[in-house]
Amino acid sequence: MPGYEMWGAEERREVEEVLETGILMRYGFDGARKGHWKARELEAALCQRTGAAHAQVVSSGTAALTTALAALGVGAGDEVVMPTFTFVASFEAVLSVGATPVLADVDDTLTLSPAAARAAVGPRTRVVMPVHMCGAMADLGALDALCREKGIALLEDACQATGGTWQGRALGSVGKAGCYSFDFVKTITCGEGGAVVTSDPDVARRCDQYADHGHDHLGVDRGADLHPALGYNFRISELHAAVGLAQLRKLDRFLEIQRRNKAALRSALAAVRGVTFRRIPDPAGDSASFLSFFLPDETRARGAAKAMQAAGIPAMYWYDNNWHYVRRWDHLKSAASPNPLPASVRAVLASLASRSFPASDAVMSRAISTPIALGWSEQQLHERASKLAAAVASVG
Ligand SMILES: Cc1ncc(COP(=O)(O)O)c(C=O)c1O
Repeated sequence: MPGYEMWGAEERREVEEVLETGILMRYGFDGARKGHWKARELEAALCQRTGAAHAQVVSSGTAALTTALAALGVGAGDEVVMPTFTFVASFEAVLSVGATPVLADVDDTLTLSPAAARAAVGPRTRVVMPVHMCGAMADLGALDALCREKGIALLEDACQATGGTWQGRALGSVGKAGCYSFDFVKTITCGEGGAVVTSDPDVARRCDQYADHGHDHLGVDRGADLHPALGYNFRISELHAAVGLAQLRKLDRFLEIQRRNKAALRSALAAVRGVTFRRIPDPAGDSASFLSFFLPDETRARGAAKAMQAAGIPAMYWYDNNWHYVRRWDHLKSAASPNPLPASVRAVLASLASRSFPASDAVMSRAISTPIALGWSEQQLHERASKLAAAVASVG
């Protein structure tokens, strides 16, 4: 997920335009900004790229998820069905709007299992939130059908999958709303940033307001704006948006390189006995930011991850990861917090501590991912592919 690898003159030029005027804020100062509206331009470019009618650029992917959930009307008493394998931010966003995350198993797509999601939907479910982990999509056909059948919203956490598609549609644009992260280690980066896309004008209006203290943004004088509802400050700065604009223009190039590099590593690994690959519902839409594969059992997966690391190849063994897989969310299970938590949040965390997910464990204990970089030369790619295959083969 390496947008920062190709930082260059294009990003600097966009940032310099902002620095020349000194207007670092996305709202107001109309005359002084000399026509530069980087956040607005990035929103327009995202709409064009994703086919969504509206985009709201915000300060992070976490802020995007929080804003989207609030704009979808999700709050106290509501449940959000989401997978056991995701970055903790998805879980935090649900908690932060006062709703209850209900975890459901992942399958061999490494994303939310449609069958598990169906079993988890109850009378209080307002949203199903698949997470397109490691660059590729959940089974959106089945999940979208489930949401339509139940009359609930599909919210795509596409924070790790910018540029991916499903049946030709941009990941993030299939559900009622979708969210992207542009943090420093994502496919494209603003340094820090994120976005919500939606084609529902009411959801878009509520995102616009919620991300800026409830401002209605209808007049030309920000000081005279009305505040139709509660909101917070999830604004992006013009400097960050400027970087994002240049990066978005490079996205197709990044995807092309990622896909080529991933294909080379995949074909080397395909020859290794016992290796199977993550199932990708629409392989043509894989953004290819990671290569994810399975070993036949936990022992061999642990061994392979160790051998890869010894060979200098990054191996994400998610089963042990304390940010991405529920098994090791120890800080959440122990309700560790710098401040006293509301009773509703304590109840969610207590139930997390008492649950186990054997079906997810059966998948995650065998899974390894390795990141795909942009900057490898032909020779480095070739060497990496043979080292990867040799390391994984060494566990027998
Ligand atoms: C799946 C997922 N959701 C949400 C986020 C949050 O994004 P950010 O770091 O921009 O807040 C991340 C970031 O890693 C992520 O991987």
